[in-house]
Amino acid sequence: MGMGVGFGKVILFNEHFVVYGIPAIASAIGAKTTAVVQRRAGSGVEIKDERPETKGYKAEKLAQQKESLDRMLKFMNIDTKNNAYSISLAGELIAASGIGASAASCAAIARAFSQELGLNYSDDKVNEIAYEGEKGYHGTPSGIDNTAATFGGLIWYKREGSSHLMERMRLKKPVEIVMGNTGLVADTKVVVDAVRQQKEKEPEKYARIFKNAEQLVHDARKQLEVFNLKKVGSYMDENHTLLQQIGVSCSELDALVDLARDNGALGAKMTGTGRGGYMVALTPGRGLQERVAQAIEKKGFQALRTSIGV
Ligand code: MEV
Repeated sequence: MGMGVGFGKVILFNEHFVVYGIPAIASAIGAKTTAVVQRRAGSGVEIKDERPETKGYKAEKLAQQKESLDRMLKFMNIDTKNNAYSISLAGELIAASGIGASAASCAAIARAFSQELGLNYSDDKVNEIAYEGEKGYHGTPSGIDNTAATFGGLIWYKREGSSHLMERMRLKKPVEIVMGNTGLVADTKVVVDAVRQQKEKEPEKYARIFKNAEQLVHDARKQLEVFNLKKVGSYMDENHTLLQQIGVSCSELDALVDLARDNGALGAKMTGTGRGGYMVALTPGRGLQERVAQAIEKKGFQALRTSIGV
């Protein structure tokens, strides 16, 4: 039996822009996905998916999950004609949009096969396999999700052609955040394609927005490093505006963002794919975190209390 884990993640700055080589900042969160791989009789691979989920997520992602798994098995050269495996997915990370669920499962599966077959994969190798798996969920991943899922921690990430740059960032101490779940399942491929099409239609407008996103993430990095959370929060607000301008937010996300700000969050934005999935609010201190989380729950949405920089 082989076991592996992958971290859930939150993108703090520049989802979507990161697909085009603009730097982004992401952090792993406490919640993880676990995978257990076991040999069985026969041939082929079956997945038992016991992760908690946003209603409808697993059914909607079933075909993509299968494509993702096929890609990873091929990449790892695992013979499933003469061998059979069962994979069980579990862990407290909710299978939902915007929280890195697909990437966490890919990293966990790669690690579980490594242990089961004695392959001794390094973290870099796990990351490469998880990247291959992410292509099953959307054709042109930037690689930020699988990198956060594999390595954990707080990262600065920049796609550089077919390669990437990752730098670890440190926070003076962990900071509480709240993630609010719209309960809507989003398709990353559809949303990423929509941005590409619109960018081609309005090149000048998009060039301006992209330039602002690039400046913003550099400023945000400096303020995270000096632990000026008020500034970081205001940059998250600005980042949300830029994401609205490229059309990836939605009324449910905007409402959760406003609610978090009205309840004292230092900043709030959508996170991940958008058009559903999660928003993230910066809420240092248990008291503020609780206030924002309860305000979200009172409106009937799920709130996840977690931290960045752990
Ligand atoms: C999805 O979590 C993040 C996106 O930027 C896509 C990607 O980076 O591959 C929307």
